[in-house]
Amino acid sequence: MKEVYLDNSATTRPLPEVVEYMTEVLTENYGNPSSLHNKGLAAERIMKRARKAIARKLGVNPGEVYFTSGGTESNNLAIKGVASTYKNRGRHLITSKVEHASVIDTFTALEEEGYEVTYLNTDKKGLISLDELANAIRPETTLVSLIHVNNELGSINPVEKIGPLIKNINRNTFFHVDGVQSFGKILLKPADWQIDLLTISAHKIHGPKGIGALYLKKGIELKPLLHGGGQEKGLRSGTENLPGIAGFIPAVESLPDFTSTSPRYEKLDRLRDYFLNRLKETLPETVINSPEEGAPHIISLSFPGLKGEILVHSLEGEGIYVSTRSACHSRNDQKSHVLKAINLPPEYIDGTIRISLSRFNKEEEIDYTIAKLAEQIKLFF
Ligand SMILES: Cc1ncc(COP(=O)(O)O)c(C=O)c1O
Repeated sequence: MKEVYLDNSATTRPLPEVVEYMTEVLTENYGNPSSLHNKGLAAERIMKRARKAIARKLGVNPGEVYFTSGGTESNNLAIKGVASTYKNRGRHLITSKVEHASVIDTFTALEEEGYEVTYLNTDKKGLISLDELANAIRPETTLVSLIHVNNELGSINPVEKIGPLIKNINRNTFFHVDGVQSFGKILLKPADWQIDLLTISAHKIHGPKGIGALYLKKGIELKPLLHGGGQEKGLRSGTENLPGIAGFIPAVESLPDFTSTSPRYEKLDRLRDYFLNRLKETLPETVINSPEEGAPHIISLSFPGLKGEILVHSLEGEGIYVSTRSACHSRNDQKSHVLKAINLPPEYIDGTIRISLSRFNKEEEIDYTIAKLAEQIKLFF
């Protein structure tokens, strides 16, 4: 077996049609969308198509979609934007203990500026308590920011219930959702679910890196992070990443249209079930950290007594790519804040690996991975 890529929560392989279209745009449609001539107009048309494709998938208006450099920037823009624009209404913000670093670290930075932040606890599955959230919302709370699908565990926060809950308690509290791991995997309907701001990123859905979007509900004012030429209606200055925006189009168009009767990526669900069934047969002692009803693509496993990093490298030796945790943190020594928040014992945290699937994985690849995993585990015990 040549290569089995099971690190799709870190990033995905771009689709051939993404690469093809980006190459065409880089070589032929290299105009600046702000230019008045034909090349500029052609570039602007590509941006319009991209905005429309994303808006259609999310069920929102194209005018509510803003391009950014990715999930990290969208999260920063949403959180800092709301906090500073509405600081006269209040300086209290709410998030959870299991957010992505681009959210947690943004809130920490805001605390240093004098904002008060409530970090909600989670249960063993990584889910917040709706009662705890309800009790935390105050008249001066301007923002609740929560992850939809957790990138380390795959747990799914019920954001469809959380939006209405927040608005019932304080209709002036904005709701931001980090949808980077949920977009394209499960149903996500910001407008129906009273979500005001939503972060998505192209490289998690077989699009290019360095391009993301922020859904911002019409009528919400937001102070920009970047000042300059006033692109993206003044919200995000800087010449647009047109090849990236172009590459977003085939990636988005390749996603299924989820509905309330078919809310999950069924092919991924089948692969995940197949993986878990084979794992339980072959290595029944494995600790599975991901909730059964979690996202269709993320499986967190612990092998207490083993080191996750060692397992990652020994599997790599067999051509299998997995990770220990969130890609941006896997090179530092600190234990995962997500796994700590769900009270996983330290030896379980150290022995954790994350398998993340894509629609292109095959059952044979899973068979091969489980067989190699079993061989490696036997070597260690
Ligand atoms: C849940 C979540 N939010 C945000 C991000 C950051 O996205 P980007 O890599 O596009 O900056 C990631 C990436 O791993 C993620 O998993």
